[in-house]
Amino acid sequence: MTLISLSRVVKKYSAGAQDVTALDDVSFDIEPAKMTVVLGPSGSGKSTALNMLGGMDTPTSGTIVAAGEEISSYDDARLTLYRREQVGFVFQHYNLIPNLTAAENVGIGSQYSRDAMSPDDALASVGLAGRERSFPSELSGGQMQRVAIARAIAKRPHLLLCDEPTGALDSETGRAVIALLRSIAGTTQTAVVVVTHNVSVAAVGDATVTLHDGRVQSHVEHQVPISVEEIDW
Ligand SMILES: Nc1ncnc2c1ncn2[C@@H]1O[C@H](COP(=O)(O)OP(=O)(O)O)[C@@H](O)[C@H]1O
Ligand SMILES: [Mg+2]
Repeated sequence: MTLISLSRVVKKYSAGAQDVTALDDVSFDIEPAKMTVVLGPSGSGKSTALNMLGGMDTPTSGTIVAAGEEISSYDDARLTLYRREQVGFVFQHYNLIPNLTAAENVGIGSQYSRDAMSPDDALASVGLAGRERSFPSELSGGQMQRVAIARAIAKRPHLLLCDEPTGALDSETGRAVIALLRSIAGTTQTAVVVVTHNVSVAAVGDATVTLHDGRVQSHVEHQVPISVEEIDW
């Protein structure tokens, strides 16, 4: 089963006089209830691919189909609804609002959703019961990233997009965050996409798409993904 597929996606940016081809004929599928890792060195097109999946940017050519709808031909208004209703985002630097509590930060992510989890339930599901009233400055990096994950999943998105979610974390905390993301895929049927340049994370996914210079270098499905405890970081 496929939740979202990119077919022959090209993305060019004009940077001054020159064009940069960030994605060059990229095709791959994302499945629900699985964790797909997008691996590649800096500049290989990972964030561009994630932005296309999340409806934050549109391709120069090629198509993106999400749940049977061709989102690559959506106008801005429909893309806004798609992002709001179907997509959760997690970033490297958490992007929490400093003067709001953990619960208030989570509430912001789901304020437009009809069927959202309560902030307290979302925080409990990421292991932060009891920290609802904490401000970001009172939390560790790993805890702040858990709040960001709770904010992203509270609206029960079909697709959870994570751009370098462990990039600012030490290895132990990073492992725990990856384990959490994997368990979210398994327990909520969400398609989880994790962008990373950390090769160790790749083996933990159900599938790994490796990008190089804007092209898909390999796409591997792991029948039996290894557990997070087994990887060297
Ligand atoms: N908004 C933009 N304008 C111009 N060039 C961009 C823009 N976004 C990304 N690029 C270029 O596209 C390529 C891929 O970038 P990116 O997707 O951010 O890679 P990654 O996330 O793998 O580091 C890089 O060469 C980058 O400089
Ligand atoms: Mg990036």
